[in-house]
Amino acid sequence: MAIDMNNFSSNQCEETVVNADKKLRIGIIGTGGISGSHIRTYKAQPDVELVAGCDLIPGKAEKKFAECEVEGAKFFTNYKEMIDTMNLDAVSVCTYNRTHAECTIYALEHGLHVLLEKPMTVTLDEAVAIRKAEKKSGKIVSVGFQPRFDANMQMIKKIVQSGELGRVFYVQTGGGRRHGIPVSWSETFIENDKAGLGALGDIGCYSIDLVMNALGNPKPLTVSGTATDYFGTTPEAYSQVGKPECAKKFSVDDFASAYIRLEGGIILDFRIAWYMHLDTPGDTILMGTKGSLRVPSTDCWNGSFSKPMTIYRDVAGEPVQTQIPLLPETKDLWNRKIRSFLDSIHNGTEAPVPTSQIIYNQAILSGIQDSSECGHEVEINIPEI
Ligand SMILES: NC(=O)c1ccc[n+]([C@@H]2O[C@H](COP(=O)([O-])OP(=O)(O)OC[C@H]3O[C@@H](n4cnc5c(N)ncnc54)[C@H](O)[C@@H]3O)[C@@H](O)[C@H]2O)c1
Repeated sequence: MAIDMNNFSSNQCEETVVNADKKLRIGIIGTGGISGSHIRTYKAQPDVELVAGCDLIPGKAEKKFAECEVEGAKFFTNYKEMIDTMNLDAVSVCTYNRTHAECTIYALEHGLHVLLEKPMTVTLDEAVAIRKAEKKSGKIVSVGFQPRFDANMQMIKKIVQSGELGRVFYVQTGGGRRHGIPVSWSETFIENDKAGLGALGDIGCYSIDLVMNALGNPKPLTVSGTATDYFGTTPEAYSQVGKPECAKKFSVDDFASAYIRLEGGIILDFRIAWYMHLDTPGDTILMGTKGSLRVPSTDCWNGSFSKPMTIYRDVAGEPVQTQIPLLPETKDLWNRKIRSFLDSIHNGTEAPVPTSQIIYNQAILSGIQDSSECGHEVEINIPEI
């Protein structure tokens, strides 16, 4: 398949026709920082009734819905009670990572579709349990990786899938923040009993999804990894946010790196940092037998990147570089994330970001944790579901 050069200048925006008569009753579980993006985006959909919100902390759901100017909803502190009584069609699970699995499985068992925030879970066992419940229920779970809807991100996949690079055999990806342990809006990201994963689950999973999606989701076979906490446990790491006390709470990873063998003989070389004495830990590169692609270091968790990609190959024996024009940034990622989920519900089609793919992402995250704990390479075993 050749690359269609027209794709470089168009945004490939597909308009969906929404049947506003078929309203879906939606509830939100977990009304912290990211729930606002869910609530505001659902509110703008003509086929949605936002009827319920739930948070463990009393009054928090009421406050968030009021901030988002949504009226007429009912509020709960127990998600089971919300699901049992509200006759919902679907929920967004926006809780911290440790409670993703329990909320998602309960919703599936009660006949609801789920839009689940990333990372899918903390452990591979939890992800497997979600896959089993999803299959049994006949409902869908879509995982919250909105960068997948960005035109430049999609171009990475188009290039790899076009065959222009030949057989891709080595991939380097990752990223990091200079000073970026996220404690400004919520401290749940740094507590093991709530987040379970640190930089790995916050931003690492995005880098992994960027390349795994481009490669067509090859199965991970083995992982040798480390996850460390040299910075988060020191008060200095919070000097810019003025919260030195966070050092005592910090109980997750702030840096992780790994060497991952993927099906098809592909090596994935990965690193992620929440805090580092460095500008960037490197570009994303995909090396192939016919060509290689360089994606300039990017905050890919924000959805797009700001410098053009380059393809390197030989033409008539001479090394040639081709710069890929940058497409306009896709501004409505959240609309695409929520709209595609709703459309899949209406049309009975596969989830836009399916768990059948994201379970590999989760297996890598869990493999890094396991390998780090035992100090050597581990095999990844994902049961057939
Ligand atoms: N897609 C994105 O761009 C994006 C951005 C930020 C966070 N996230 C993800 O969203 C999730 C939430 O992040 P956040 O920043 O909103 O965290 P947060 O700590 O601000 O909010 C989480 C909320 O969930 C509530 N909660 C936890 N367990 C619950 C349960 N069993 N029942 C009801 N409420 C429960 C907590 O009380 C809290 O209010 C995380 O998994 C995170 O990785 C995604």
